[in-house]
Amino acid sequence: MSAQALKRAGASPAAEGCFFKMEKINKYYQMGGERAHILRDVDLSLEAGEYLSVLGPSGSGKSTLMNIIGCLDVATSGRYTLNGRQIEDMSEVELARLRSREIGFIFQNSQLLPRLTAQKNVELPLIYAGVAPGKRRERARQMLERVGLSDRMGHYPNQLSGGQQQRVAIARALVGNPTLLLADEPTGALDQKTGRQVMALFEELNAEGRTVIMITHDMHIAAFARRVVHIIDGELTEGGDTNDA
Ligand SMILES: Nc1ncnc2c1ncn2[C@@H]1O[C@H](COP(=O)(O)OP(=O)(O)OP(=O)(O)O)[C@@H](O)[C@H]1O
Ligand SMILES: [Mg+2]
Repeated sequence: MSAQALKRAGASPAAEGCFFKMEKINKYYQMGGERAHILRDVDLSLEAGEYLSVLGPSGSGKSTLMNIIGCLDVATSGRYTLNGRQIEDMSEVELARLRSREIGFIFQNSQLLPRLTAQKNVELPLIYAGVAPGKRRERARQMLERVGLSDRMGHYPNQLSGGQQQRVAIARALVGNPTLLLADEPTGALDQKTGRQVMALFEELNAEGRTVIMITHDMHIAAFARRVVHIIDGELTEGGDTNDA
């Protein structure tokens, strides 16, 4: 479709066909009388299928950025387009739907529900999405197999190792078939070897064509990504292609 035709159809040519674009994103937090400037004119664009890591020290604004990328929070100013949609123009209900359909979240601590088995934890997003019981059990089983846990489906989180719990969390993030996997310090609670196994899984998922954004303060972990950007005091700078390093 030409830019002209898009305009006639009421779509923004900049947004159409664009997978991920942030322009001049700023975030302020009000702390008592003080206004803290946390993200400063962040520009970031991604093609579908990229594997990006955002590397920065503690307090640099990584989780703040992740919350905006994941549409859990909105920027104070700037424009953000995800999968052709303009985030600032969307309602809470639309954002919730976008989050559940397009984004798979993985956090430092797996955040599994302790009273549910691995299988039920993975099924959870599909329960919210209204998927029929037979179908969601099958999908959850497939995902747990995918992360190498077919023999642990009936285990509760406290019966699993940290690495296994994190793999259940990855299966849960994948089960809705999201376009974007968003991970905030996914190996932060793991030992080095288990961390590497989780990173190998991300590499596989990216090789299958999934877009991955990983946030970390650890340069060894960041180096697994094909592209690294640095964040310091809320300012983002391109770090070059790690394959060229
Ligand atoms: N809700 C909030 N209200 C006020 N200030 C906040 C809020 N959330 C974060 N901040 C501040 O914003 C800054 C960035 O926090 P953020 O959590 O994004 O850092 P981070 O890079 O993820 O750090 P870490 O590596 O320790 O997780 C910090 O100085 C923090 O105190
Ligand atoms: Mg953080």
